[in-house]
Amino acid sequence: MRIVALVQARMSSSRLPGKVMMRINGIPMIELLLSRLSKSTLIDQIVLATSNDTSNFPLSSFVKELGFSVFEGSENDVLERFYHAASLFAADAVVRITGDCPLVDPELVDELIREFIRRNDVDYMSNTLTPSFPDGLDIEIFTFQALKYAAENSISAYDKEHVTQFIIKSSLFRKENLSYDSDYATERWTVDQLEDFQVIENVFNYFLPERVFSWLEILKLRNEQPNLFNLNQKILRNEGSMLGKLKEIVLRNVRDFSESDKYRAQIHSLIPGGAHTYSKGDDQFPKLSPAAIDYGNGSHVWDIDGNEYLDCSMGLTSVSLGHAYKPVLDAVKQELDRGVNFQRPSVLERKMAEKFLNLVPGHTMMKFAKNGSIVTTAAVKLARAKTGRNLVAFPGDHPFYSYDDWFIGKTTCNKGIPSVFSDLSVTFKSCDISSLRELFNKYPGQIACVITEPERSVCGRDCACGRNVEEYLREAIELSHANGALFIIDEMITGFKTGFPGSSSKYNLFPDMITWGKGIANGFSFCALTGTKDVMELGGITRIGEEKLFLISTTHGGETHGMAAAIATIDEFKKHKVIDHIHSSGTKLIAFCGELLRKHNMNKYIQVVPCEWMPTFIFKNKKEEVSAGMRTLFMQEMIKRGVLFQGIFIPCFSHTDEDIGYFARAFEESFELYKKALSDGYENYLVGEPAKPVFRKII
Ligand SMILES: Cc1ncc(COP(=O)(O)O)c(C=O)c1O
Repeated sequence: MRIVALVQARMSSSRLPGKVMMRINGIPMIELLLSRLSKSTLIDQIVLATSNDTSNFPLSSFVKELGFSVFEGSENDVLERFYHAASLFAADAVVRITGDCPLVDPELVDELIREFIRRNDVDYMSNTLTPSFPDGLDIEIFTFQALKYAAENSISAYDKEHVTQFIIKSSLFRKENLSYDSDYATERWTVDQLEDFQVIENVFNYFLPERVFSWLEILKLRNEQPNLFNLNQKILRNEGSMLGKLKEIVLRNVRDFSESDKYRAQIHSLIPGGAHTYSKGDDQFPKLSPAAIDYGNGSHVWDIDGNEYLDCSMGLTSVSLGHAYKPVLDAVKQELDRGVNFQRPSVLERKMAEKFLNLVPGHTMMKFAKNGSIVTTAAVKLARAKTGRNLVAFPGDHPFYSYDDWFIGKTTCNKGIPSVFSDLSVTFKSCDISSLRELFNKYPGQIACVITEPERSVCGRDCACGRNVEEYLREAIELSHANGALFIIDEMITGFKTGFPGSSSKYNLFPDMITWGKGIANGFSFCALTGTKDVMELGGITRIGEEKLFLISTTHGGETHGMAAAIATIDEFKKHKVIDHIHSSGTKLIAFCGELLRKHNMNKYIQVVPCEWMPTFIFKNKKEEVSAGMRTLFMQEMIKRGVLFQGIFIPCFSHTDEDIGYFARAFEESFELYKKALSDGYENYLVGEPAKPVFRKII
């Protein structure tokens, strides 16, 4: 087996440009890396795989002078770069090393290669699938065939940039992890920022002129002289040091709800439920809370008493960029001046469809609507029409898919819905493939479609899908298709949050239809159903002579400013790293809250589900039972401190580090009463009643 190591490196770097050529004791970092790697006894050839951008020419010529081969390929499609390099250098297997890992350990590389060859049945092996080695010793090895397949089949820009993501996410490949007995995954020996470089410099300066030393020797040094490693621990501890600064944050003191109380007293005689989704209703909040919002800006909202809050729910997750986000507003305002609704479709409809479909691999047709329920119901209708079957299946333990009869009829809140409708809906346990299989066995040839959210905050963690969401979804799609049913992914919540455009693209999944809504137009009313042509065209009018299916037909579906908002939102997501921002805000919030819970010994009573796109909190009582009363008390305490919190945090592009710090400060202060309630009961501290479940039989 011919093993070729491809060292991925280039001069550009967002945080530390030119880092690979930065010198340690006069020696460029890339040279140190290559000197170490060339001590591997199992690698047949080492090749620098860089990009053909002119900025890399000095790097290429330097590495050639050192006597190594160089391959120059695509700047952004690194997967393609790897494939072409591996083909040119006739690799049977490729070892991938990245330029930010100058401490790569040749013995560890050989150990991984040896294990890979010995196993002989895996397509991919690394020490990063479940990390236990220090960050910076990353090694991956994969077969040429796996690389070829990934290069030929990957679609998303993310997979093309991150070389092995397609292989890692795909269930087609057999993968193995190399672990160490102890967990050193939090050690940071990689070079991303200047502080990292300084640590690596300290390490080399200690060992030089010896360039090759083992990672265990570095670990020994770390234990003996921790000060050499302190600098970049600061990066990790940045969060910690911000925690120290939390005390300096002055919290708001929200006490006046007099206008809110008047509003609450009147609204229920005007509007049933007092709001236009039940989850915004008064019974979802503590008594000491705003009844209505006056306006919002960025990540903050102001209530009708003039109280300011950090917003944690962002319009039920629909506001992905921020309230009153200027580029979206500008696009909307411009369109408003040109009229909003006409006798024939606005020319924007075509632009919108082309733009959106460009984001969704495999889907070529779409319909727009004003609400998510309209598109999920339309998907169900199409599936029934396509298959000629009646039953629709969804996870019975998921919260919401539509306010229409096929879904609500199956909840406890089914008044007004004849059972003939709800009997046509069947449920299975979410993320549990055997439960779905049982359902197909129970209703052979009767299920038209499975509709499911692709992932929820617990997925990949404490959930029946285990750690592999993608594998479960892929199996569920295959199982549904094998049973003649269509598969619909509902990306209402995950869309523009887990990835861009969503989880289906993140995991390279090809469902028959996908439903989109919240977040795709920054809070404006624009939802969509996308799908494959063979399903979607059933709702068309060009199949002359065939029976017509009345799909979505609504007066306001093609309102121009909704489309303008969606187009501007997509442009902003493309222009900025919105998803990265969302995820890093979520990650920081999780880290802060986790640290505070540990510090106060509260982790038994409040838990954070570490989901970077939607950190979710679970509140428990003294007996460690989930408690609505304790949750409502915590909400009351957060609201008092100017944080409009309902138990989840939806990071958006406008949330800043200051917001995260503010949340953490309010979070910590809210422990005070919570701790008292743990011993005395929430009833002693909560003003009013606990929030109630949206889906309940009795009001
Ligand atoms: C997963 C999911 N699907 C569909 C819907 C319905 O969307 P809408 O409220 O826009 O009708 C929701 C709403 O919360 C949802 O969470």
